[in-house]
Amino acid sequence: MIKKGIILAGGTGSRMSPLTKAVNKQLLPIYDKPLIFYPLSVLMLAKIKDILIIVNKGQLEQYKRILPNGKNLGIKITFAEQDKPRGLPDAFVVGEKFINKSNVALILGDNFFYGESFTKKLNECCKLKSGAKVLLYKVSNPESYGVAKINSNNKILSIKEKPKKYFSDLAITGLYFFDKKVVEYSKRLKPSKRGEIEITDLLNKYRLNGNLKANFIGRGGAWLDTGTIDDFYKTSAFVSSIENRQGLKIACLEEISLNNKWINKSNILNAIKFYGNCNYSNYLKKLIS
Ligand code: DAU
Repeated sequence: MIKKGIILAGGTGSRMSPLTKAVNKQLLPIYDKPLIFYPLSVLMLAKIKDILIIVNKGQLEQYKRILPNGKNLGIKITFAEQDKPRGLPDAFVVGEKFINKSNVALILGDNFFYGESFTKKLNECCKLKSGAKVLLYKVSNPESYGVAKINSNNKILSIKEKPKKYFSDLAITGLYFFDKKVVEYSKRLKPSKRGEIEITDLLNKYRLNGNLKANFIGRGGAWLDTGTIDDFYKTSAFVSSIENRQGLKIACLEEISLNNKWINKSNILNAIKFYGNCNYSNYLKKLIS
């Protein structure tokens, strides 16, 4: 079982400047909560309680104000700083001590997932013993993502980062599951032409060893991007529609902890005090009434 998870929540956020000049992108709102709540909720739904959040150098204090240490969520949150955006696999170099020869999940801080049976899928993925696993999702703009081509047995035949020429419409989402070899593999990666070490090069190492598996998020699921300002508003609108229709929140961290029996009523009362008089606290009150 995978019991450790990393959220990569650094990056320059240059595409969203000036919004990201003073505040990290992952602390900006997706409807009623900071973006970071969504990837964190995914790891918590996967029953992962030991979580490393990697942030930009100098931005630690911003994050600690909203996620002090995880105690009140019944989980353990550790922070590490990345001094510059060297590329996604750098998460495993920065996180080497945290990983400590375990298998590990990685989620990108700007990824949003939602859908029926998604928790079940996460729990299946966490059963990974060796190799690596990715989640694929059909998109209309594959040129914006890492892309995988598969055969009729769902075997991954090739992988490319942001291919200019069409070769598949299956995007590799920003949620990955790896065995402990990931640290050594990541350390050996060489920067690409754009000067970063690439997640697709890392995945290709696993693929060439016959150790890369694909799982899928079907058309009933949502994987949304928050890469640009427009994407941010679209994702916010999606969350607002679902939450207001159902009266249930997406990515309410305390609700997930309570359902997992990691916390009790007194932790919820603490959370209400912490957040103050707001809509999120009103929702928490309902959970324990
Ligand atoms: O969202 C899925 C896609 O994410 C994948 O399909 C691609 O294969 C993968 O390369 C990645 O593409 P992006 O262009 O979206 O990556 P971006 O550079 O925007 O980084 C994603 C998040 O990771 C973002 O929140 C910033 C953070 N980050 C990024 C880098 C390169 C870091 O914290 N440190 C880094 O060094």
